[in-house]
Amino acid sequence: MQVIKEVSELRQLIRQQKQAGKTIAFVPTMGNLHEGHLQLIDNAVGRSDFVVSSIFVNPMQFGAGEDFDNYPRTHEADIEKLTSRGCNLLFLPSVPTMYPVAPDIQTRVEVPGLSDVLCGASRPGHFVGVATVVAKLFNLVQPDMAIFGEKDFQQLMVIRRMANELCMPVEIIGAPIVRESDGLAMSSRNGYLDQQQRQTAPELFAELTRLKQQVLDGETDFSRLEQECSTRLEQHGFKKDYIAIRRTDDLNPPVNSDDNLVVLAAAWLGKTRLIDNLVLN
Ligand code: PAF
Repeated sequence: MQVIKEVSELRQLIRQQKQAGKTIAFVPTMGNLHEGHLQLIDNAVGRSDFVVSSIFVNPMQFGAGEDFDNYPRTHEADIEKLTSRGCNLLFLPSVPTMYPVAPDIQTRVEVPGLSDVLCGASRPGHFVGVATVVAKLFNLVQPDMAIFGEKDFQQLMVIRRMANELCMPVEIIGAPIVRESDGLAMSSRNGYLDQQQRQTAPELFAELTRLKQQVLDGETDFSRLEQECSTRLEQHGFKKDYIAIRRTDDLNPPVNSDDNLVVLAAAWLGKTRLIDNLVLN
């Protein structure tokens, strides 16, 4: 696997692959890779001729007081893992490479509406940061397809909408959540949990599973179900950010009985914010 830090070198290598007629799949990440990320790489390897990943802890998607400074940077271990799974190229830019005039970047990519609810409501500006950096990375890597985990369900929807509305020639592929054996969705932030919090953390998945089952059993008083779920999470020691039953296509509250639904949650365990979701089908 080639590890590239500079834009000019990246562009040259991408040009070579394109000229050779290779299809390119892209897996953007912020590093500290776990099995969830590596299954995205497997997915990319299975679909394309040339797999590019990136590791960039994007300052623009972190708010003041969030964990940008503490976000784990584990490049050596990440490079080993990517190599072992068959990734061909890792783009590892610095902050000045991605934001040469930071912090005064003028061009932003915004997907209003979808970005303002749920995680966007608690993390103002987060999805502008995500959409902007992903648009920049797409322009650099020029992939035929890009693969994102469904754990960040809202992020996946924002990116899909952006790519579609800006006519980006890239197919956006969502890949299933990868879980630990006790159900906890894999996340780089799980590493922040102490031993006791780690034991409690799977309750988030357990409670979402219960909520999903209640909806599948035909219960329709969604605000009561959300409230009860939230109370149970607080009893386990979580501090709820949101618990929501939403439509999968626009993340709005359901209107019709045949809407496709997803249950989504974000909750704090101590200083760690965990998110999870389950699609109801
Ligand atoms: O999901 C992530 O790791 C990040 O939000 C992404 C998509 C790499 C953009 O920085």
